[in-house]
Amino acid sequence: MDIPWWRDAVVYEIYVRSFADASGDGVGDLAGVRERLPYLRDLGVDAVWLTPFYPSPMADGGYDVADYRGVDPLFGTHDDFDALVAEAHGLGLRVLVDIVPNHSSSEHPWFQAALRGEGRDRYIFRDRPNNWQSTFSGPAWTQVDDGSWYLHLFAPEQPDFDWRNPEVRAEFLDILRFWLDKGVDGFRIDVAMGLFKAEGLPDVDDQSFMSVSPIWGQPEVHDVYRDWRALLDSYPGQRMAVGEVWTDSLDDLALYVRPDELHQSFNFAWLEAPWSATAFRKVINDTVATVPFATWVLSNHDVVRHRTRYGTADPGTGLARAKAALLTTLALPGSTYLYQGEELGLPEVENLPPEVRQDPVFKRSGGRLPGRDGCRVPIPWSGKGDSYGFAPEGVKPWLPQPPEFAGLSVAAQAGDPSSTLEFYRRALACRRELVPAVPYELEWLEPAGDVLVFARGPLVCALNCGTGPAPLPPHEDVLLTSGPLDGGALPPDTAVWLRRPVSQPARGARGGPG
Ligand code: NOJ
Repeated sequence: MDIPWWRDAVVYEIYVRSFADASGDGVGDLAGVRERLPYLRDLGVDAVWLTPFYPSPMADGGYDVADYRGVDPLFGTHDDFDALVAEAHGLGLRVLVDIVPNHSSSEHPWFQAALRGEGRDRYIFRDRPNNWQSTFSGPAWTQVDDGSWYLHLFAPEQPDFDWRNPEVRAEFLDILRFWLDKGVDGFRIDVAMGLFKAEGLPDVDDQSFMSVSPIWGQPEVHDVYRDWRALLDSYPGQRMAVGEVWTDSLDDLALYVRPDELHQSFNFAWLEAPWSATAFRKVINDTVATVPFATWVLSNHDVVRHRTRYGTADPGTGLARAKAALLTTLALPGSTYLYQGEELGLPEVENLPPEVRQDPVFKRSGGRLPGRDGCRVPIPWSGKGDSYGFAPEGVKPWLPQPPEFAGLSVAAQAGDPSSTLEFYRRALACRRELVPAVPYELEWLEPAGDVLVFARGPLVCALNCGTGPAPLPPHEDVLLTSGPLDGGALPPDTAVWLRRPVSQPARGARGGPG
């Protein structure tokens, strides 16, 4: 079988609002992305995923789409998009775009028509609300002027479509065709386990369970992905789709990546695992046992950056662990999704003042939940100026950057072999060289308590999650480390890639001690 490009790809998530601002309005845009494509080629990723850039009132950072075929002037024009795709392809980078099928913006012409009483069956209107809560806090229903209620699993500005209406289904196939015809290599599917709600919209006792829920993961959704898969497969060039699927178990996740459905799904179990070899080992084993093409993700624009998650009280520990986790992630079979700024070791910005926070989660929870702005602070490209090079000089970014971003900027780190950026570049280059030589299968070498040790063919990866140094597994060479070794030992919070001794042949076993 030909190995599809996406199986081992490293995909870099560009949260467009916060990546690079070329127009000078303080918000990132497509022209800014274009200017930085060579940086991403040099970083060594295979593809980029662009978060929504469609016309939007920005009630949820663009995940409230008013026109699925447009480009918001805030982010540029169709010409910018076409040039971005052409330039990315010229640099050998694939391009994924975000599709938001669960809900539209309340400004979408269909919802505006629904408010006037036309075509209401494209959304979910009822005479009375049920007890469902919005993912962003508060009730999932809002009342309109004539007294009826509409469902929104997220903000009120994001009404849920009724996917039982064939018109909705046909419309999304057409939207996919529109972007495929423009040359995109695939899609990231927002809230992919949403779309259908159980008939009758029954009340729920406990909304925290997703497995048996009238809200998520209804069986009907799989037919939609079968249609989408057939469409993607009808285009040349291995177009693909990756689902944002939150589930309670990897078994549930596996349903979305059956051979005739989505190509991949984000593996959030990996980012949810605590800093523990046992927990990591379990996620790895469950993943390779259940999912045909694994993905790994440590951070994205919805979660606390992993440097901070792993950091507990000490930021140094957080960074050491973040780098060790990255090296481990890149050694696993399958593809890896990186989030912009993690290559700089950016921390979560936890002290944003309330008045600058824009996430509806913060607003709707009355400030009880901090929301996701802290991982969305614009990227520092240079160490100077009003935005550390994110925007043209004199322009303030849409979220303020903390002073420590100066020392973490691309300019401050590039060329410094001890920097996080150069570590990422080395790791991605080494992975690129190794990928053709390593089998997909993973083999556990030692079920060694706090130390995770696995091999794929000639590559051995060890991660020390313990509190003391651990002996290095047998090896011929040290290929890469996430931090300095301690003589012949692997210090805590450190990972290493080793070349396996020729005398210890690979067994090629799949899975391992659980
Ligand atoms: C998931 C997206 O990643 C998130 O940012 C958004 O708020 C929700 N879906 C709703 O679209």
